[in-house]
Amino acid sequence: MGDGLASNVKPAAAANAPAVPPERFATSVNVDVPVAGEGEFQPLQLGEGRVSSEGVIPVWPPVVLAPMAGVTNLAFRSLCREYGAGLYVSEMITARGYLMGNRLTNLLASSSPDESPRSVQVYGADPVDLGEMVKSLVDDGVDHLDINMGCPVPKVTRSGGGSAIPVKPRLLARLVRAMVQNAGDVPVTVKMRMGIQDNLLTYEEAGRAAEGEGASAVGLHARTASQLYSGEANWASIARLVEVLDVPVLGNGDIWESYDALRMMRATGCAGVIVGRGCLGRPWLFRELSQAFNGQEPDLPPHFAGVVEVMVDHAHRLIELFGPDVGMRQMRKWCSWYTKGFRGSAAVRGNLMRIQSIEDLVAAVSTLDPNEAFPTTALRAQRAKGSKTQTVKLPEGYLDDLNDDTPPKGPRSVDEIEAWEKALNGG
Ligand SMILES: Cc1cc2nc3c(=O)[nH]c(=O)nc-3n(C[C@H](O)[C@H](O)[C@H](O)COP(=O)(O)O)c2cc1C
Repeated sequence: MGDGLASNVKPAAAANAPAVPPERFATSVNVDVPVAGEGEFQPLQLGEGRVSSEGVIPVWPPVVLAPMAGVTNLAFRSLCREYGAGLYVSEMITARGYLMGNRLTNLLASSSPDESPRSVQVYGADPVDLGEMVKSLVDDGVDHLDINMGCPVPKVTRSGGGSAIPVKPRLLARLVRAMVQNAGDVPVTVKMRMGIQDNLLTYEEAGRAAEGEGASAVGLHARTASQLYSGEANWASIARLVEVLDVPVLGNGDIWESYDALRMMRATGCAGVIVGRGCLGRPWLFRELSQAFNGQEPDLPPHFAGVVEVMVDHAHRLIELFGPDVGMRQMRKWCSWYTKGFRGSAAVRGNLMRIQSIEDLVAAVSTLDPNEAFPTTALRAQRAKGSKTQTVKLPEGYLDDLNDDTPPKGPRSVDEIEAWEKALNGG
């Protein structure tokens, strides 16, 4: 069966869970997934047992917006937050760029006074830089810090950074230690992939090393670096990490519908989920998640007219953050995600890629049917990343000594840093 709207209702899977209503908006994999039963899931207590009680962040529902470069800036985070509670992580901030006072890096690290808890993902492979950056972010009021150890980009792994780091557990430990020692009462988490490739899986040992250094949780994107975003995420690896670790595991990969989050938590026992591509052009997914975790059947997504209202709102927020030129340029990629699957959207995409103002945006979509219901085909459609795979580039002789904890050489000059920041567009 394809991803059609669920029309037949099968018996609820869990004995005491609420029945599934006949009019559920879901694809075939989710027709009979019951919403959360009372007391079935607990809030994630991020930092519990790791930082003092003042630093612990209760996260309910146990849902985290994935850090996504070029995506999870203040504009998008604030929009998502209005739909539901949870934890909304910033896009990745590079330690070198931050410490050198790079203007764009600082803008991306910025927040608003009403953003609480404030969560920032960092990237760095030098313990001294990381420690200094963490201290500064904590002084600036950040409530949660995550480190990106899953970036599969060749420019980064070729020098031993990103997803190459967990291959060397002692190096990973050194970097996590530098963060934890400087974070005070702020919980530090680590986000990683399963490993480099199927015959070089690193997540169990890397997870233990992170836990051993005081990480408050480990997020696992259940794919290898060589897989990039292709194929299905391997949720069994999330279940395995839950068995191996005492700290909470946050499961990541292929949450497209709210019911997927419930399925992932039931199947793996993970303490929370991280949602990436599923919310691109669908920020109301956080309302659906919130409802499903609170035992209610989620609302239907908006019709096209409602989607346009959200697009306009999003454009206003991007303009406020980046100014009109950069803001509208950023909005172009969002337009293709928001309109995905609606009838006639392919024909207006060219105009959407040229918009310079909110008026242009509204004019470009004016030929589409405002009353069209949200298409089910768009629910699990690929967004942002394709289905290609790669052979991961590692430094010459990198696998010869896995106990080595020497930090890899990162970018130093302004030009190098800028080139890295451009390349670091995916974890
Ligand atoms: C556009 C884009 C940018 C990303 N940037 C980052 C990043 O900066 N840091 C990171 O840890 N992961 C990054 N990721 C990976 C996501 O956080 C997430 O692990 C991945 O998309 C898998 O989750 P999903 O199947 O729900 O999309 C990025 C993903 C996308 C699609």
